[in-house]
Amino acid sequence: MKRKSNHALVIGGTGMLAGVSTFLAKEGYSVSVIGRTAAKFEKLKASSPPDSVFPIQVDFYSEALYTEVEKSIAERGPFDLIISWTPNYRALEQICEMNSQAGSFRLIHVKGSRRFFEDEEIVIPGNCTYEKVFLGFVIEGETSRWLTNDEISNGVIQQIASMRDERIVGQLIPYSARPM
Ligand SMILES: NC(=O)c1ccc[n+]([C@@H]2O[C@H](COP(=O)([O-])OP(=O)(O)OC[C@H]3O[C@@H](n4cnc5c(N)ncnc54)[C@H](OP(=O)(O)O)[C@@H]3O)[C@@H](O)[C@H]2O)c1
Repeated sequence: MKRKSNHALVIGGTGMLAGVSTFLAKEGYSVSVIGRTAAKFEKLKASSPPDSVFPIQVDFYSEALYTEVEKSIAERGPFDLIISWTPNYRALEQICEMNSQAGSFRLIHVKGSRRFFEDEEIVIPGNCTYEKVFLGFVIEGETSRWLTNDEISNGVIQQIASMRDERIVGQLIPYSARPM
């Protein structure tokens, strides 16, 4: 198993977390990224240093996910950091289990607003530090809006540096003030 640099996995890392994938690539991580669309990977690679982004082009609801993740771990070593934006919590649990050969690793679990009030449990291995980032909204005068991709990525990047147990990007209370 090769071990050249820290290895990160960003699940859904070609969308609103593209800024996070690029940040990690510029920080020297080998960044494996799960998504389905080739064009989004090309865009991500173009904004990242050469040979830093490794596409795992697969549907995270398919069985092929596990074969592809296994390959990624075999090629670049276990993940030191997993950042996840997926509603498929069972797949996330399985990926963490597959990664339990890592000495220790961090999971930053990015969650939508509703999950702050009503969430499912996830089971993670003992060698995983679990951190949650909730995505809120922004109140502007009389109205409110959802977060932009930049605000979301910047919030997660702050979390990477701070290692808090929990972070809210924007605000979640009063929940009735969220955009409708
Ligand atoms: N609280 C808030 O303000 C808040 C919260 C959530 C979202 N948003 C906004 O809403 C917009 C849309 O959100 P979104 O949830 O669609 O997130 P997104 O980050 O724009 O897209 C989802 C990411 O996951 C990948 N993906 C989706 N389904 C997949 C599957 N079945 N298998 C593998 N990869 C998959 C996508 O790539 P592929 O499509 O190529 O697979 C992409 O990388 C975002 O741009 C964000 O700004 C705001």
